Amino acid sequence: MATQAMSEKLQQEVEIHFEGKSVKLPVHRGSEDEAGMDLAKLRSSTGLITFDPGYGNTGACKSAITYIDGDQGILRYRGYPIEELAEKSTFLEVAWLLLQGELPTKAELASFSAEIKQHTMLHEDFKRFFSALPKDAHPMPVCAATVGALATYYQDPESERQIHSSVIRLLAKMPTIAACSYKHCIGQPFMYPRNELDYTSNFVQMMFATPCEDYPIDPAAARAIDLLMILHADHEQNCSTSTVRLVGSSQAPLFASISAGISALWGSLHGGANQKVIEMLEHIAREDGSADKYVARAKDKNDTARLMGFGHRIYKSYDPRAAVLKKTCAEVIGRLGKSSKLLEIAMRLEEIALKDEYFVSRKLYPNVDFYSGVIFNALGIPTNMFTVLFTMGRLPGWIAHWLEMRRDPDFRIGRPRQIYTGATKRPYVAIERRG
Ligand code: ACO
Repeated sequence: MATQAMSEKLQQEVEIHFEGKSVKLPVHRGSEDEAGMDLAKLRSSTGLITFDPGYGNTGACKSAITYIDGDQGILRYRGYPIEELAEKSTFLEVAWLLLQGELPTKAELASFSAEIKQHTMLHEDFKRFFSALPKDAHPMPVCAATVGALATYYQDPESERQIHSSVIRLLAKMPTIAACSYKHCIGQPFMYPRNELDYTSNFVQMMFATPCEDYPIDPAAARAIDLLMILHADHEQNCSTSTVRLVGSSQAPLFASISAGISALWGSLHGGANQKVIEMLEHIAREDGSADKYVARAKDKNDTARLMGFGHRIYKSYDPRAAVLKKTCAEVIGRLGKSSKLLEIAMRLEEIALKDEYFVSRKLYPNVDFYSGVIFNALGIPTNMFTVLFTMGRLPGWIAHWLEMRRDPDFRIGRPRQIYTGATKRPYVAIERRG
């Protein structure tokens, strides 16, 4: 097979020759000059399919939501650098930005926030739904199941108006669901939302307050959680977002698609890594505090240990979200006057890894999960809730992608191909003649 760029960049065409057949494939260019071959005609013209396990080099869609340059460590939502949004924006404003494409005006933000507040409660019957789940259930499958179950309460056909209601309901109810998933496992009464509070403070109240007494919300803690949610709000075609798109591509309803995304995020190689990071740091602290020893284990191919919170499919330099969080981490811990043992170990791990040939040559840097767990821990968020907070943050990104996909004129059901490696045709063998 010969693959040849027909001429330089400008020609926008790639010619492929294979077993006497050839095809000219058009090249699509993005607004940041990314180029991708359009393979739609490849199989019908040459018989070839592409083989790309893990989709490391496959563009599954065009998207105008988030731009990442993994070599330069750049992340922008709708063109706005993540560092600026982290410093100046709020989670609800970022949610609007992702969904609508522009920053909201004051009036738009006020009416968005007011509309969300009208839908924060769950149907009372959800109390029975939660009570059917085991007390030791991990909150992630509880959230996935609850969001999936919303599809049984809101079953109207998905008109544009109905989709708008589903989007608002999801954004409004997610903090309530997240807090209930926690209250359920610790056996405390569910707290109703309090709509005089802002989005994130309301979550903090539902998570930590009890009916017995007033719960003073620390605005700095709420701001730290808000910031973490901004940093998690979207990350283009990652595993969970691709899952949401793939499920939604069959025209499954929004709630079902988001439920699938939550399940995908749960895995330890994806959103579940933030829980694994803190478990790793606690393990090191319990042993002898030796970061060096753990780094040696992570490098050893005969050891299953990985340096959790390190490495990324896209970032081959410092994850810009980790850079923001490293700074925030030190501030939050300093302000709370908490022991910084875990932060110290994390910083030591990072220092060793960034100088180590194994990590340097593989371009493995801290990712968003490396410091987020330390902050959640310092804020008193239980470890098994870390990925739930990630879920709350990622929600507007998932929804924005689902909407973009449904409105894409080139929309098709997602359906990858395969290279079959099983048995070739053979006759059925009667059971008495087997073995
Ligand atoms: N510790 C030790 N070695 C690592 C690590 C790590 N954290 N990450 C990658 N490597 C090594 C691999 O063993 C492999 O080495 P090899 O070339 O000698 O075989 C090489 O680096 C490339 O790694 P892959 O696993 O092939 O990279 P991939 O892009 O498939 O995986 C992933 C990326 C899953 C994030 C990986 O780096 C990892 O497991 N990291 C730890 C888990 C984690 O932090 N996940 C969160 C990601 S961010 C997010 O989803 C929110």
